Amino acid sequence: MKDFSNKIAVITGAGSGMGRYLAVLLAQAGANIAACEINKTALAETTAMLADYPVKVSSHILDVADKAAIEALPKQVIAEHGCIDMVFNNAGVTVDSTFEDMPEDDWDWVFNINLQAVINSSRAFLPYLKQRPEAALINTSSIFGMITRERQSVYHTAKFAVRGFTECLAKELKSSSVQVHCVHPGHIGTNIITNGRINKSEESTNSMERLVMKVLGLGNSQEELAAFFRNNGMHASRASQIILDGVRKKRSRIMVGTDAKLMDLAQRLTPMHYEKIFPLFTLTLTLLRNKKPIKGIPSEAKITTRLTN
Ligand SMILES: NC(=O)c1ccc[n+]([C@@H]2O[C@H](COP(=O)([O-])OP(=O)(O)OC[C@H]3O[C@@H](n4cnc5c(N)ncnc54)[C@H](O)[C@@H]3O)[C@@H](O)[C@H]2O)c1
Repeated sequence: MKDFSNKIAVITGAGSGMGRYLAVLLAQAGANIAACEINKTALAETTAMLADYPVKVSSHILDVADKAAIEALPKQVIAEHGCIDMVFNNAGVTVDSTFEDMPEDDWDWVFNINLQAVINSSRAFLPYLKQRPEAALINTSSIFGMITRERQSVYHTAKFAVRGFTECLAKELKSSSVQVHCVHPGHIGTNIITNGRINKSEESTNSMERLVMKVLGLGNSQEELAAFFRNNGMHASRASQIILDGVRKKRSRIMVGTDAKLMDLAQRLTPMHYEKIFPLFTLTLTLLRNKKPIKGIPSEAKITTRLTN
């Protein structure tokens, strides 16, 4: 799909981070947007950022973990826009905890949003996408769908499965009009830690961000970790631009950021020991990466409230 103008794009998790900037950049490219988000305030902020573009925007308060709501969504989008050309299954959350200390409720929370919702949404939207002369399904995994580290068991379980599911779909739909993409971002400066849950009953000494924060002389609370994460990743607008370039170039696997590419390479070269070099990667790339937004996009209000718990 080379041209996004006049296309209809559905984006989940459109209230923040990459979802928000996918909406902005698609609107800038002339696409009409169905912005879906669980957080009403965040959704309103995103739609306000789209106000200056001459495209149609519909807002959908949506909990992607609600299967019935996902199943009802295509008809709501059709009622507003007439058809559906692109679906970005982007919404995601995280829990920072060892598996043994993680409440089952936290496991289910991440699993349902990060994996089950992607599957349910793909099932619900594919019949509509297949009606279009060209269409795209874009599922967000992570570099954590390729490598693992401690305290992220449920996130890895979901993101590895999103990758497997999406790569299989890409093969099954190869001769259809639907191009299928799996997105693997590295560290992107978003609100995912602000919105996440951290099991405070124990403290990790190994977590990459914490190690780097220690080296940089920073504290260890969720607020400090969230601020560090948001301020030191690639800007979400840059990540979204890379994702959209990947869709334009029909790349079935879209790697976002040098860190994602290097970590993927490291796990291929040294599958059992790659994590030993991560702190070095993380520290170097944290200092070097471009944290500024791309030019010509509307500025956003900073979201500081915890959205989902
Ligand atoms: N930020 C990173 O470094 C990074 C790296 C790899 C992968 N990812 C993935 O990228 C995607 C986007 O994350 P982000 O970093 O932009 O995070 P973010 O927290 O800034 O944005 C995620 C959005 O999803 C929304 N959301 C959460 N639960 C929802 C639900 N049940 N229903 C609907 N919306 C919901 C949140 O309210 C938020 O607006 C996620 O799938 C995430 O796992 C992020």
